[in-house]
Amino acid sequence: MLFWRVKPLDLILKTAEKKALKRQLGAFQLTMLGIGAIIGTGIFVLTAEAAQKAGPGMMVSFVIAGFVCAVAALCYAELAAMVPVSGSAYTYSYAVLGEFVAWLVGWALILEYAVAASAVSVGWSGYLVGLLKHSVGIEIPAALATGPYAGGIVNLPAIFIGLLVTALLIRGTKESAVFNAFLVTVKVLALCAFIALAIPVMKDTNFHPFAPLGNAGIVGAAASIFFAYVGFDAVSTAAEETNNPQRNIPIGLIASLVVCTIFYLLVAAGAIGSYGAQPVFAADGSPLSPGSLELAARCKELAGDNMPLVCSSEALAHVLRMIGHPMVGNLLGLAAFIALPSVILMMIYGQTRIFFTMSRDGLLPPVLSKVHPRFNTPHIVTMMTGLAVMIAAAFLPVGKLADISNSGTLFAFLVVSLAVMMLRRSDPTRHRPFRTPLVWIIAPMSVIGCMVLFWYLPRDAKLVFPIWAAIGLFFYFIYGYRKSHMKPGNAPVDDGPTLEAAPVFHEGPEPGP
Ligand code: ALA
Repeated sequence: MLFWRVKPLDLILKTAEKKALKRQLGAFQLTMLGIGAIIGTGIFVLTAEAAQKAGPGMMVSFVIAGFVCAVAALCYAELAAMVPVSGSAYTYSYAVLGEFVAWLVGWALILEYAVAASAVSVGWSGYLVGLLKHSVGIEIPAALATGPYAGGIVNLPAIFIGLLVTALLIRGTKESAVFNAFLVTVKVLALCAFIALAIPVMKDTNFHPFAPLGNAGIVGAAASIFFAYVGFDAVSTAAEETNNPQRNIPIGLIASLVVCTIFYLLVAAGAIGSYGAQPVFAADGSPLSPGSLELAARCKELAGDNMPLVCSSEALAHVLRMIGHPMVGNLLGLAAFIALPSVILMMIYGQTRIFFTMSRDGLLPPVLSKVHPRFNTPHIVTMMTGLAVMIAAAFLPVGKLADISNSGTLFAFLVVSLAVMMLRRSDPTRHRPFRTPLVWIIAPMSVIGCMVLFWYLPRDAKLVFPIWAAIGLFFYFIYGYRKSHMKPGNAPVDDGPTLEAAPVFHEGPEPGP
């Protein structure tokens, strides 16, 4: 059953050739693109959540999550170099495991991209609130800047940024490669400043006790902080716009991940060592889970001069303020404020591209691949995605959103790792410009790593995934299965419109319409 309606690789490649976008991205730009999509709410905000789960042991959590991403990235690289077309994991699964699994992967990627966009919107909101409070003294009432889980009513700033980014994407903003490089530089400079100020004042004592909630806490934090690394696969969605993709895509994937891992480890060490990252417990000594109302209430009691790291919704800025650098803390907040929206943009963009490709394949209604006559963007699907992103961001806390997003991403990574192995068996002679090294060790490690992290996600995030998958299957059988372009007698494969290139890939400003 798994092998229903495989879309032949050669057909995918031929279609891509026919619709070729301008190939203008090199290895350096791809790496910048990857870093641009990776560094975001994970490190700037969720460091606090990781600390609440693992304490100083979150250092190890960062290593575990980074390791799983690294082995998954090596698998991605083989497929992305071999099938350099957009659609990422969805397209690879279509070619290797057939339509049924491809549908599930596409469906899971909705969790990855759209829910991640919501998570980053909420993260941005936290930084906006902190920035306004600490730099100009304006306090946005908590009721209007946090959702019900964190004791508020609705997160208005998160809705606002979701709306803004959606509008930009519909208008077809051409965020130039130069602008993307600028945003990456802003983020990297902010992290460098953090490292430079925090590392020299590290104290041994802040690392004790190292694992207050045991090993399970450390792996649990790894499952959540995995979110910080998500986004490197955005590099593979740019495959059709890359020159010499066979060489440059693997470089872009792996280099961006390596750079971010180094930064993350230094930042985590700095945060723990300079200020301390011990979890907060209930009055009776029982652990409190991140994102819970109980933790929010306990943090209210602890708010003040020495508020613990785990209570802050702008973790890194908070650490800098607490270790005597309020100005730099505010500047770091400003950097997050400026740069996080580009992560939201990448995520919503990635989402619309997946929907678009699925619709072009007949698996989703054709209205979703409708292209705006003037802006040349898929406006309808962008609007729908934007709306969903805003609703989730308005009411759910950042940590829960990140965990839900992780559940979908882990599934997609797992399928990609399986697909690499299966394709080695079923099509061993096909030219592979990049081969996953030691594939029979790396790919199984990736599969196991994804399963372990999934298992250690909080229960509600783990439950969302099967429910989401069941809804997806229902839709597949009432719609996609019958309408698929791969079904004999249906419309020709890929006979749909083509889009503008991705927003971040242009060299410079485009002429107006
Ligand atoms: N890795 C991205 C972030 O942390 C999704 O915001």
